[in-house]
Amino acid sequence: WPLMAPYIKAINELKQTRNAVILAHNYQTPEIFHCVADIGGDSLQLAIEATKVKSDIIVQCGVHFMAETSKILNPQKTVLIPDSRAGCSLASSITGADVRLLRERFPGVPVVAYVNTSADVKAEVDICCTSSNAVQVVESLHAPTVIFLPDQYLAKYVASQTDVKIIAWKGACEVHERFTGEELRSFREADPSVQIIAHPECPPDVLAEADFTGSTAHMINWVRNKHPKRVVMITECSMADNVMAELPDVEIVRPCNLCPHMKRITLPKILDSLVTLREEVTIDPAIAEKARRSVERMINLRN
Ligand code: 13P
Ligand code: SF4
Repeated sequence: WPLMAPYIKAINELKQTRNAVILAHNYQTPEIFHCVADIGGDSLQLAIEATKVKSDIIVQCGVHFMAETSKILNPQKTVLIPDSRAGCSLASSITGADVRLLRERFPGVPVVAYVNTSADVKAEVDICCTSSNAVQVVESLHAPTVIFLPDQYLAKYVASQTDVKIIAWKGACEVHERFTGEELRSFREADPSVQIIAHPECPPDVLAEADFTGSTAHMINWVRNKHPKRVVMITECSMADNVMAELPDVEIVRPCNLCPHMKRITLPKILDSLVTLREEVTIDPAIAEKARRSVERMINLRN
């Protein structure tokens, strides 16, 4: 990335001066993920790493709910997002008021929120989950029925893996809902030996055609461990770029569905963020306190 080299150098220097750490999601572009990030990962890994940060400043290279999660877990630290417009179609599909209405409609039924939600929503639920641990979180509640929000497809995937009855919200990821089972079948027809792996935010007809379903980190680990000759990655396409840079001998087919929100984060904006210390993520402390309980309850499940 020769044109980007001055930005990479400046960001890495300023990071030291500012005592800042850069957390990057697997969907960030390779020049961010491989050249300036201190820690990369899926939503769960980033949340766990956020609890261990020693630096004064966290620069979150991802979408807004990820930066909010870091702030929820680090109320005393400065959390910056290089572009606060980096949203998520799942997070914007539901509000805290919607959760209160659901509770009225289904009294006593516990509520699980995917981390792809605002702090307001996290404050109203019993526990959070990510695509890495959704089944484990739902089963940890020992309830016959659970409300799962906001991703209808992740909810369907969880329902297919457990006996717990799932009541789902109607949200969807604008990137993953575009994949179709037909698209996957055509990859297999073109090469019957190809391996296909998919994120659980995809619709059920897509997951039915996949050889493996998992979170972004689980998908990466699957490729690292299986080392297939050729693999189709049914997810946001920067992740395939990042894996290609790490494993050049694996042929990766990537249908190029980009997340426009993730792509708002660029090297120039990261540099600007470190220079100006903007944009700072703020959350009403009373909401953050309640949201922290839901996020920490999820993190503590690992132990
Ligand atoms: P992961 O937690 O699997 O990284 O997913 C986050 C996300 O936004 C997927 O679209
Ligand atoms: Fe949200 Fe989908 Fe983008 Fe992930 S890929 S941040 S779920 S819109």
